[in-house]
Amino acid sequence: MSALGARAGGRPLVEVMHGVNLDQLGRRDAALYGTLTLAELEQRVAAQADEMGLATSFFHSNHEGRFVERLHALRDGGADAVLLNPGAWTHYAWAIRDALEIAALPAVEVHLSDVAQREPWRRLSVIAELCVGTVCGRGADGYRDALALLREALDGVSA
Ligand code: DQA
Repeated sequence: MSALGARAGGRPLVEVMHGVNLDQLGRRDAALYGTLTLAELEQRVAAQADEMGLATSFFHSNHEGRFVERLHALRDGGADAVLLNPGAWTHYAWAIRDALEIAALPAVEVHLSDVAQREPWRRLSVIAELCVGTVCGRGADGYRDALALLREALDGVSA
């Protein structure tokens, strides 16, 4: 977006994107992912963002192509920043990595679980190099940290 904050009541807009299987939160292993449903998590994130002066929009898909197309749409003024938890796609979906590059927005990657301490295949993130930060293993609280990183990045852009 050319003029940061020129929308949503003067607040920069953060698109919060969840990928494959994240719609199953609340039914997945609570020890790893907590007990909140995706709707409850999104409500929390919206409230946390609001406290930081950020507006939010939310997207979820279990379909990689739809996720990619949503990232394409962000490129043309769809958002000022993106917070994303692509689920298992994080570890192998190079098309999502390329679409994030096309979106060309400040991005932060977040995972509820500590992917570094789990199976070896979860240690690779194909999007990490494009993100200003990664937050893992802090459960739902990690989203607040991720929003704070985006707030900093956006403040840097508009300064
Ligand atoms: C996850 C971690 C991924 O490895 C896993 O496939 C998920 C959720 C997380 O939030 O901890 O679906 O992204």
